[in-house]
Amino acid sequence: MGVYLGIDVGTSGTKTLAMRSDGKILATATAEYPLSSPRPGWSEQDPEHWWQASIKTVRAVLKLGKIKPVDVAGIGLSGQMHGSVFLDARHNVIRPALLWNDQRTSAECAEIESLAGGRAQLIELVANPALTGFTAPKILWLRNHEPKHFERVRQVLLPKDYVRFRLTGEFATEVSDASGTLLLDVQKRAWSKTLLERLSLDPAILPRVYESEEVSGRLSAASAKLLGLSAGVPVVGGGGDQAAGAVGNGIVRRGVISATMGTSGVVFAHSDEVQFDPQGRLHTFCHAVRGKWHIMGVVLSAGGSLQWYRNQLGEGEVALARKKKIDPYELITAQAAQAPAGSEGLYFLPYLTGERTPHADPHARGAWVGLSLRHGRAQLARSVIEGATYAMRDSLEIIQQLQVPVKEVRLSGGGARSKFWRQVQADIYGVKAVTTNSVEGPAYGVALLAAVGTGAYKSIVEACQATIKVVDSTMPALRSKKVYDAAYPEYQHLYRSLKDDFRTIAGLVAK
Ligand code: XUL
Repeated sequence: MGVYLGIDVGTSGTKTLAMRSDGKILATATAEYPLSSPRPGWSEQDPEHWWQASIKTVRAVLKLGKIKPVDVAGIGLSGQMHGSVFLDARHNVIRPALLWNDQRTSAECAEIESLAGGRAQLIELVANPALTGFTAPKILWLRNHEPKHFERVRQVLLPKDYVRFRLTGEFATEVSDASGTLLLDVQKRAWSKTLLERLSLDPAILPRVYESEEVSGRLSAASAKLLGLSAGVPVVGGGGDQAAGAVGNGIVRRGVISATMGTSGVVFAHSDEVQFDPQGRLHTFCHAVRGKWHIMGVVLSAGGSLQWYRNQLGEGEVALARKKKIDPYELITAQAAQAPAGSEGLYFLPYLTGERTPHADPHARGAWVGLSLRHGRAQLARSVIEGATYAMRDSLEIIQQLQVPVKEVRLSGGGARSKFWRQVQADIYGVKAVTTNSVEGPAYGVALLAAVGTGAYKSIVEACQATIKVVDSTMPALRSKKVYDAAYPEYQHLYRSLKDDFRTIAGLVAK
């Protein structure tokens, strides 16, 4: 049986997974790297770290899984979306890559909207409005602020596509990740010549676009030697981490929705045709399924809010967990479970790094509202979990407004590991919440795409049907659901009330 490798170039680290063609996971390995924030709101990484982590983790899975190099039949790539790697004529990296959570490009977003002929025109051309995290504003930022660097740019690559370049020597991307550049005609699945022209960007700086399962190149002899593999292994397109994660969770047909709580939180729906939220609150991207699309809402700090709580206020739990050799989140969620649904009137707004869906507001910030003497750690912890989940409900509601049927939601990420948080999600979303046997996320999705692209399955739908099964399901508890349904409109109202204050505060901090 052939073995497929999935490499996911994430924000905190790269994870590589080896999968047998029947879907069985043979080994996984992760290598972490730093993220630098040279100024508030900036977020950068050195692409060389991604490459070194890819080498390290591929070598590790081969060793752990006792895999013979000749058995490796294909490689799939996934990664954090939207990042910009700038290469010069000699293919050297010009400056650190700007990442998806970098917020420096507000002015360039406005510039793009105006050059495109307005927001509605822009949405018509590339299916999405300009958001600070996307790639095109980053290219314009370089042009506006580092013109010497911009003059040297010959290629702009997304994070996983830089790793592809190191693996194969090819400049290539695929439709799902390319959608998040804001330069792809999402309907036609090809670069938007019109928008590139309006932005005065040379189309030659962009890589060739493939479908996600298509072979985009082969492993070079030099890279094969570094990785401990045979030269010539096919590397398929793969996918942006969200589309790849959705494939890895079986979200490949209409009506199946996922809610993934990593650092960011994503609500993701498959779509057979291109569907837009006229207000541009959801992203409309090509799916990693040939000829299909997806819509998704992105909450920037979902799991990230609880991570912040753990890091800043959970010192006691972290120390105790270390002693007991358990995960500190187990203690934090057990404490949260002591408080009743609704946290006795305490609300947490999870906008710690601004927000994308539904507010598209880089100035939004986190807040606890409604604190009283009665509230203790249980309510604080529970309200953080509830606030992050309400934020996800915002996206789910917009998806439902587009007439997408939501019968159940597939949970994954940190928020799916805890029984307590699974119940909170079922209660707040108001639908059955299920988990699958597939917990490895994007790396698994792209290993499946590699299996499809090299002929082990006829299609990604067939591959998912053969490998992914629902293993657990949680129904909403009616009493809590009622509490949340009553509390949710107030959660929504709080952002509207505080919006102007967030802007004022951002102005004060900038001074
Ligand atoms: C998706 C997004 C994030 C990043 C990082 O639009 O910005 O999910 O891909 O994981």
